[in-house]
Amino acid sequence: MEKMSVYKSKILILDACVRKEQSRTKRLLDYAVKIYEKTHEEAEMKHLVLEEMPLSYHTCKSLAERDRLLQKGQMDHPRFDLAHEFAQADGIIVAAPFWDMGIPAVLKVYLENISVEGITFGCNEKGLYGLCGAKWMLYLSTRGSICGGTPLEQGTPYLAALCDLFGIPKLESVSAEGLDIFGIDVGAKLAEAEEKICDICTKI
Ligand SMILES: Cc1cc2nc3c(=O)[nH]c(=O)nc-3n(C[C@H](O)[C@H](O)[C@H](O)COP(=O)(O)O)c2cc1C
Repeated sequence: MEKMSVYKSKILILDACVRKEQSRTKRLLDYAVKIYEKTHEEAEMKHLVLEEMPLSYHTCKSLAERDRLLQKGQMDHPRFDLAHEFAQADGIIVAAPFWDMGIPAVLKVYLENISVEGITFGCNEKGLYGLCGAKWMLYLSTRGSICGGTPLEQGTPYLAALCDLFGIPKLESVSAEGLDIFGIDVGAKLAEAEEKICDICTKI
């Protein structure tokens, strides 16, 4: 009998937990990965530790080089490998502590690198449209203060705008908040966030 090939969904993990093992956001990420793997045996998870990658922000020179490659249609150039990987993922988990009312620079630099016309988004006379295959993005964070849902919280709206640009239809955002408030029960806040993560990870 012919063997059936099982499609492995590709889940890309963007780990911007700069404080590594001390990071409370990393704890949420580890939990999400555990639950997702348990409930989606077919998934293939790729974990990018952004801080350990040779990422650099755009400069006048690097942008000119990029534009030259794009004009020549050299989409297979190695500098676009990350953008292709992002575009081909079926789901994306972003773990990033809440810094300066938004995301850490290392995540912004990664996003700058994968945001490439012709790979992750396109443009026509009607405007911009997404080219990514991911059906969802899960954004995990922890915050020192409590500001979710107010204009002070700029991580979720920023990622929501990028999901729109890249054509990713669903953004789920889970955060444990107030972790640096004196006297707060950090363990309880993280456990509360884990409960939400468990619910989302079993459904997406
Ligand atoms: C560089 C830096 C910037 C921060 N900026 C903010 C901020 O703007 N608002 C806030 O509520 N907390 C801020 N915090 C506190 C962190 O959001 C909080 O401690 C979070 O839990 C850190 O995540 P981690 O344990 O995963 O590193 C900041 C912390 C650091 C180190």
